[in-house]
Amino acid sequence: MSRRLLITGGAGFIGANFAHFWTHAKPDDRIVLLDALTYAGNYANVAALCDPGAVRFVKGDIRDFDLVCNLLRSEKLDTIVHFAAESHVDRSIVGPGEFVGTNIVGTQVLLDAARAVWLKEGVEHRFHHISTDEVYGSLAPDAAPFSESHPYDPRSPYAASKAASDHLVRAYGHTYGIQYSISNCSNNYGPYQFPEKLIPLCIVNILEGQPLPVYGDGKNIRDWLHVHDHCSAVMKIIEHSPPGETWNVGGNSERSNIDLVRALCAAVDEAFARDRSLATRFPNCPAARGASSAKLITFVKDRPGHDRRYAIDSQRMSNQLGWRAQIGLAQGLADTIAWYLDNETWWRNVMSGKYRDWITQQYGS
Ligand code: NAD
Ligand code: DAU
Repeated sequence: MSRRLLITGGAGFIGANFAHFWTHAKPDDRIVLLDALTYAGNYANVAALCDPGAVRFVKGDIRDFDLVCNLLRSEKLDTIVHFAAESHVDRSIVGPGEFVGTNIVGTQVLLDAARAVWLKEGVEHRFHHISTDEVYGSLAPDAAPFSESHPYDPRSPYAASKAASDHLVRAYGHTYGIQYSISNCSNNYGPYQFPEKLIPLCIVNILEGQPLPVYGDGKNIRDWLHVHDHCSAVMKIIEHSPPGETWNVGGNSERSNIDLVRALCAAVDEAFARDRSLATRFPNCPAARGASSAKLITFVKDRPGHDRRYAIDSQRMSNQLGWRAQIGLAQGLADTIAWYLDNETWWRNVMSGKYRDWITQQYGS
């Protein structure tokens, strides 16, 4: 079945990967990307898709009801894949307001636009909402991983805003008949991730010889999922899940933060040992002098309210939809390090703010 998709947050980390993934798998489908290009959105992530005109990029806010209605009508869109969000927990602790605005109000406006166009005009549709394992709260060390029926217990402003958005999606399904699906997934990593999240931050800091800030005792546990595995899961759900269902998506790769950071250091050290030109490109990296990058590890003050452990039980995805993660963590980290080595200009631009100046020239402020 061919589809016409609106991908919100399509210039962000997962949304951009998803746009590449879907276009590659289904080149005849229509894709419109809607993204406000906040600090986390980067047109460069999707320029290769949009510049030839195959995919349309629209700079705009999901809270702009008229804009969303116009796009749904004029492009005859039948599927919304909703990634747009404020996504960084640390930022939500400093300023929760943006998270309420984008994640809760933004989702409500999108749902209202879907009602106004799809329900009024009798369009066969799907609203797929991207959520997070953080809505379930924190697990004890020996507790079973989160299943889809685990009670909600969000504990950061970010997690609370995502939980509220999940409730809104279900409520619009129940009350008005919006045909929705929801996926709650674990920590993603891979290409195009903004270097404020743990993995890309550490890769860039190792290369630059900067400290690797590990919060608290470093024993908090996350379940890591390569973004390409996340994209294949979302495609499976959109294509095969009945409406009204929720799916947990995880990588089955639980690691403590300190173990993960040590693994990253070891993988970068190995890359430098294999390729001597890296020492010339990144002279401040300890590995350039034959030292271990692990010496950069620095324990710092903990994140307030820091959840101790997340882990996802994806059995329902594998039993009912035949999906399971394909990319093991060691391979995924090696591939991700290789991507950051091959795309130095990308992360230098993102970090220097040059990219933002360029985008302001292209699209205005
Ligand atoms: P990201 O921060 O990299 O990207 C978010 C994108 O949304 C950016 O391009 C930004 O410009 C855009 N955006 C923000 N506010 C907007 C608005 N008002 N209107 C239009 N666009 C707006 O985030 P990500 O890591 O790609 O996460 C995508 C989604 O996946 C989020 O909903 C997040 O909650 C969820 N999620 C992320 C992870 C993860 O590990 N990154 C894990 C589970 C769930
Ligand atoms: O679990 C899914 C969630 O994963 C998503 O919903 C969020 O959008 C995404 O940002 C991510 O949240 P986390 O808070 O788990 O990711 P982050 O990369 O910020 O941190 C991962 C772990 O590493 C967490 O325990 C905090 C810790 N950390 C993070 C940073 C940035 C550090 O120890 N040092 C750091 O500098």
